[in-house]
Amino acid sequence: MSIILAIETSCDETAVAVLKDGRELLADEVFSQAAIHAGYGGVVPEVASRNHLARLPELVESAIKSAGIARQDIDLVAATAGPGLPAALLVGMAYAKALAIGLGCPFVPVNHVEGHLLSPFFGWPEIPPHLGLVVSGGHTLLVNVERAGAYEVLGSTLDDAAGEAFDKVAKLLGLGYPGGVEIERWAAEGERSAHDFPRAMLHSGNFDFSFSGLKTAVRYLIDRGEFHIPDVCASFQEAVIEVLVRKAETAASARGKTVIGLSGGVSSNRCLQARFEEMVRRNGWELALAAGKIRTDNAAMIAYVAAMREPLTVGARGLAADIFPSFSREQFSGESQLV
Ligand code: KG4
Ligand code: ZN
Repeated sequence: MSIILAIETSCDETAVAVLKDGRELLADEVFSQAAIHAGYGGVVPEVASRNHLARLPELVESAIKSAGIARQDIDLVAATAGPGLPAALLVGMAYAKALAIGLGCPFVPVNHVEGHLLSPFFGWPEIPPHLGLVVSGGHTLLVNVERAGAYEVLGSTLDDAAGEAFDKVAKLLGLGYPGGVEIERWAAEGERSAHDFPRAMLHSGNFDFSFSGLKTAVRYLIDRGEFHIPDVCASFQEAVIEVLVRKAETAASARGKTVIGLSGGVSSNRCLQARFEEMVRRNGWELALAAGKIRTDNAAMIAYVAAMREPLTVGARGLAADIFPSFSREQFSGESQLV
C-alpha cells in the first residue's frame, strides 16, 4: 500500500490531495481563490502566493483528516514544480519539501501540464497511447502520448492560451472572471454564425494555435459599439471550438491515434465536449474526458502523476524540466496568466 500526499499551488487554486495505491482518491481539497482575484479582473501573482501560504497548512490538515489517515501513513509527498506563477509554485514546493523532510519520506516534483495531460485516464489500468489536448487558462497543448512519460509535443499556442482567450474576451464584454463559464452561459442564447471571427492557424499545416487575433477581432467589434453579447459569445466560442477540434482530429490521424484525451479547465465547456464527441464518433475513435472535479486545477492529478514516478530523495533540486526533458523548454518559463 502506498499513500501519496500532493500539493498544487501553480496559479490561484490551493489544492491538496491524498491518493492510495495510485488510483484511490482518499481526499481532494481545493480552495479556489477566484473570488479574491475577481476584483482585479485576473490573477495577481503576489496575492495568489500570499493566499497559498495562508491556506496551505489548514488544507493539508483537512486533507489528512478527510482521508482518514495518520500523518505517518504518508509514503511520499509530491508538489507541482512548474509551469506556473514562480512565487506561487515556491510556496507549494517549499511546504511539500519541508513536509517530506519532517516525515522522512521521499519527494516528487510534478509538471503541472503533465498532470492535466494524464488526468482523463484517472482510474484506467494504464495510460493508453493517445492524442492529448490540454486546454486551460495557461496552456493549449497538443501532445502525442505513447505511454506515461513518453511525449511528443506536437503544437502549442503562439500567444494566448484557449482559456486565456475566453477570460480576456469575457473581460472585454464586462462579464467577469473567470470568463469561460460566463461566455458559455451567454453563448447558449446566441447565434454562433452571427459573426465570422478568424480561425487562426486552421490551415497553417502545423499543430500550433493562435488566439490573440480572435480576441482583437472581438475588441474591434465591441469598439464599433453595436453588438449583441450572446451572439458575440456564441460566435467567439464557435471559432475556438472549430480550431481545437480540427487540429486535434488532424493530429490524431497523423499519429495514428484512436483515443483522444481532453483536459484542462476549458474542457468543462459543454459545447466543446459535444463537438469532440461528434468528431470521435465520426472517426470510430474514443474520447477520454477528464472527470469534472479534476478539469480545473487540482492536486489529484499531481498525485496521479507522482504515483508513476521514481521518487527523488529530499534535497534533490526537483526541477520538473530535469525529469521531463521531452516537454519543450518554454513549458517551464513560469509565465503568469492574465494580469
Ligand atoms: O485548468 P485551469 O483551472 O487553469 C490553468 O491551469 O490554467 O483552467 C482555467 C481556465 C480559465 O481560463 C477558464 O475561463 C476556463 O478554464 N474555463 C472555461 C470553462 N470553464 C473554465 N472555458 C470555457 N468554457 C468553460 N465552461
Ligand atoms: Zn492548470
